[in-house]
This record gives sequence, structure tokens and C-alpha cells, in this order.
Amino acid sequence: MSSTANIHSGYTPQGPHYPVSVPVLQTTAYEFPSYADAQQMFAQTKPGFTYTRTGNPTVAVLEARVAELEGGVAAVATSSGQSAVALALLALLGRGDAERAGGADHDGAGRQIVAAHQLYGGTMDLLTDTFADFGYQVDFVDHQDLDAWRAAVTPQTRAVLLESITNPLAELPDLPAIAQIAHAAGVPVVVDNTLATPALYRPIEHGADVVVHSATKFLGGHGSTLAGVLVDAGTFDFAADPAKWQQLAGDKERYAAGASAGATLVERYGKCAFAALVRTKYLHDLGPALSPSASAEILRGVETLELRVARHRQNARAVAAHLAQHPAVSRVHHPSVLIDHDPEAITSRVLARDFPAGAGSVFAFDLAADVDEDPGAVERFIDALGVFKLVANLGDTRSLVSHPAAMTHCRMTRAQRAAAGIAETTIRVSIGLEEPEDLIEDLNQALLTVSDASAGLTITEGGVAR
Ligand SMILES: Cc1ncc(COP(=O)(O)O)c(C=O)c1O
Repeated sequence: MSSTANIHSGYTPQGPHYPVSVPVLQTTAYEFPSYADAQQMFAQTKPGFTYTRTGNPTVAVLEARVAELEGGVAAVATSSGQSAVALALLALLGRGDAERAGGADHDGAGRQIVAAHQLYGGTMDLLTDTFADFGYQVDFVDHQDLDAWRAAVTPQTRAVLLESITNPLAELPDLPAIAQIAHAAGVPVVVDNTLATPALYRPIEHGADVVVHSATKFLGGHGSTLAGVLVDAGTFDFAADPAKWQQLAGDKERYAAGASAGATLVERYGKCAFAALVRTKYLHDLGPALSPSASAEILRGVETLELRVARHRQNARAVAAHLAQHPAVSRVHHPSVLIDHDPEAITSRVLARDFPAGAGSVFAFDLAADVDEDPGAVERFIDALGVFKLVANLGDTRSLVSHPAAMTHCRMTRAQRAAAGIAETTIRVSIGLEEPEDLIEDLNQALLTVSDASAGLTITEGGVAR
């Protein structure tokens, strides 16, 4: 990806005014040139915008730009990252549980997703609660355990799901190895690339078939606008097993109007069939469309993505390195710290091999405090912060902090959190674009409140000293 594509791709100024910035075409609908055009566009035999729920020129620029940045063939923008994840998975799953949906699958069983258990909490809620209601089965595996992926993928599996940088521990899954297992079983791979962004990592180059984003985060970058995007890599061969992928490679009455007899989405849209299914069925039927003004806001963010991510990354490295030597911090979960003391860890190897620009700016660290003896340690630390804001978000220009045990992971038991590597004193940070010295100073003064480990520390110009 390049800064040039960030700024120019998907848009050429047009007459009569040639606006240099992408115009916000704030309209719900479009006048059809003629009755015949309307008929053909509704039959999807002629391209064009019919209604903004399924497409809009401003939204289309964002879709084209993110598709190019990720190296995909098409993209669909949605109202939030949550809806992008949901639509991507629903389109791959198709019908729910065979009995509940009133029809047997081609092998008589319900459909399944295999997901890494290191996922954003909202995605977890979708998979474990709402998808369970729909009759889909979801099995979770540790992303590091390739045997577990192998064992979990079955003939019923319709998608494998993982995040390219996990949240909050900033682990890096070995995507090529996981994709190989999924593809050998005829299963597409969906990767949430929100924390990495294409500025650091392009999952399609490592085996992903679909990439999803919460554009709310780094793509928008200013903490102002909710948005999601899903990108179709165009790589997965749905036509290889039409019985399994009926929604894409089978005849469908819904798409028959005006089409040559027997046309399937794969025949009609080729490599873009998956994106076409998402748009024409799921975006159309469920309705989580992105507004033109929100698209323009995200596009403005994308223009500076490369610059911002470089600064986020630089600041994060400086903060992580500082925390790693701070006596009030027992552990820093950032790949740049891990690689120094455990170069053989999967995250370290993936960092060295696939993240040439380094890992991201969302990571965690554990306070050196015992919450059983000092239950107020985390609260004192967070309330003492000034520059860092306590916010349930990430990827903002501002540095943000959250406490997973009390916030994003509060529905898990302490034992479940511990099994996932999240301690009661784990603090997640999203490092912003401020001066790194200001961030370090803010952390230093707040760390003084933490525990005995920091007793007697004084802040000097060089950092913390005993
Ligand atoms: C990795 C990841 N994916 C998806 C989402 C959901 O995105 P949104 O909040 O835009 O709906 C989030 C939100 O925090 C996220 O962090």
C-alpha cells in the first residue's frame, strides 16, 4: 500500500466543478434515466445506484479505496465494524442449523464457524449469543494451536475467523499456517485487520479470503465516526463445490429476474461474487448501510493513514520500551518487547517475518500489584492519568486506556481471563499521536500510585529512578 493510494485511489474529480475532495453525495435515491434503466438496474443486469442502502457514489469511493489498500477485488462499507463482521460471516454461513432452518444441509448437519478465542468482545457476543440463537455452531481455538485448528475444521465449517493483531494482548497469529489448514478443508479465511490496518499488514497477501475492519478505529482515526468495511479478496473458489456454496454457486430464484436462465452470483459477478452477495442480500435485507457523510469522514482519515500509523507505531514502541523497564510494571504485552526475550514465540516469529514495519499501537501491560492485597491499585492508577483518557475505543489520535477485567472482559470469570492471559491488573492502551515524552511522563506519575513496587521512586528527566 502506498500513501498515494490512500489519497487518490477510487476517485477522479469530474465536471462541471471537478471537486478535489470527494464530494458528499447526500441523497437517499437516484432518478433513473428511463423506465428500462430502472428495470435493468433492479434486475442487476445493469450497474448503477438505485438506493443508498445498497450503494452511493461517496460510499463507493471508500469501498474502492479500502479494496485497493487491502489488495482485494471489491469491498462493501457498513454502518459499523460490528455489522461488517456479522455480514461477512452470515454471507458465508448461509442457512442456519439444518433442523431449525427447516431443511437439511447437503450432508445433513448444521453450519459452523471456527474462530480464534482471542477476539474483540463484541465479536465474541455475536458468535456466542446471537449466532447461537440463529442455530450456528461456533468452536473456539487458541490461535497458536495449529492442531486445534486442524481438529476443529469439519465439513460443516463455512468460515475460519481471526484477528491479525489480537486485542488486548497484541499477539500475532500465524495466518499463512492457519489459512493452509482452512483451505485444505475448502474453508475461506476471514481476518479482522482493524488493529493492524493495511499500513502494517495486508492479510490477503498471507492467505485471507475476506478482510473486515472496524473503520471506526485507525481508518477514520479521529474518534469521530462509526464505520465498517469488508473486503473480498476474490481468491476463494466457491464454484469448486456448488452444493456447499449454494448461496454463491447455486441457482437462486431471487436473482433470476431478467437474468439469463441459470445465472448464479459466481457466473454473474465472477471474482466479486462474495461482495455482491453481501451487498445485494445482506446489506439490502438487514440494512446496516454507511451514510455518505460518514464515508467522507472516514475517507478524510484514510488520506493520512500511513503518516498516522507510523507515528502511532513510533510512540507505542517508545512507551512499551519504557514500561518494560519500569519497576511498577510486571509485564508488557507488545511484540517489540516479546521478541527481545522470547524470539521463538509465534508472535515474535510472525513479527520478524510478516510485519516489516513493526506491530501496532494497541497493547497491554500488567501492573506490578496484587489486587487481593491492594484492590484499589488499578483504580488509583487509571484515575491518576491525565493525558491518557479512560475510553472504550482505540485507534484515536488521543491516547486511550481501558481495564479489560472491569470493562471489555468483565463477563468472563477471573479464571477464564487468566486462561486467556489477561491478569486482573492488565491495562490496555491505544497509543495516540501526542509527544511520546508527555505520554511517558503521564504514565510515570500514575504508576507512582500503584504499589509497593513503586514506593520511593522519583521522576527525573530521564524517567523513573529509585
Ligand atoms: C477488532 C475489532 N473488530 C470489530 C470491532 C467492532 O467495530 P465497531 O465498534 O465499529 O462496530 C471492534 C470495536 O472495538 C474491534 O476492536
